[in-house]
Amino acid sequence: MGWLKSKGIQRLGGGGLERFGIRSWSRVMMAALGSRKDASALKLLQQVFRDNRSLMTSYEMWIIYSLARAQMKMPGAIAEVGVYKGASAKIFCELKGDKALHLFDTFEGLPPACEHDRGIHKVGQYTCSLESVQEYLKDYKNLSYYKGIFPDSAVNVSDDRFCLAHFDVDLYEGTKACLEYFYPRMIPGGIMITHDYDILAGVRKAFEDFLADKPESLIEMPTTQCMIVKLSPV
Ligand SMILES: C[S@@+](CC[C@H](N)C(=O)[O-])C[C@H]1O[C@@H](n2cnc3c(N)ncnc32)[C@H](O)[C@@H]1O
Repeated sequence: MGWLKSKGIQRLGGGGLERFGIRSWSRVMMAALGSRKDASALKLLQQVFRDNRSLMTSYEMWIIYSLARAQMKMPGAIAEVGVYKGASAKIFCELKGDKALHLFDTFEGLPPACEHDRGIHKVGQYTCSLESVQEYLKDYKNLSYYKGIFPDSAVNVSDDRFCLAHFDVDLYEGTKACLEYFYPRMIPGGIMITHDYDILAGVRKAFEDFLADKPESLIEMPTTQCMIVKLSPV
């Protein structure tokens, strides 16, 4: 795992080799889920898997699915920063009912990294156009798209209360901006979850720095993800 944590898989940059690795793992995971989880959930995850637009493993998609299903009972909108080709967004779309889903991305790939990211990303990595994502999600209602670098792109956002926010931006500054923007806007019991916490140094540091003066604790998962559940103000 050492090579993976330092430079290995990130350098593959969303190319064929990265997708091959994720898809191979995901087939095994999907088979394991198939013996235990309900059929409608699996049908959706298999559809997203077949669409071949995701950089998440099947277990990571399952966690997104499961949190979205749980949070649907709560008030507040859903947000995602780091949409790429719209795979995780599609899972939210399938579960969200009438809730608003706010989707933030440059739609031009990664912005510049900083020293905390250890030089493993390329500007423009993971590019997918806004038009491609809009076409992929065209059957779903109440979606808002914000093109540009977050948090500068977060203007005219019609909701200010969120029950679930998913971050997948790979970099320190973007992740820190997500935490700073959404934390005060999360309802009590609202969940902020990120991808890549334990494989990307910048993402990990952003969470550590942000949580240093907060009452919440980080919840790590066996996948690359971690999450924070917003507490009620005391
Ligand atoms: C790894 S991809 C997201 C994968 C996606 N969630 C999925 O399920 O496959 C990272 C995305 O974050 C976006 N991104 C990174 N930093 C950003 C920022 N500060 N503002 C907006 N988008 C950003 C990139 O454009 C890219 O689409």
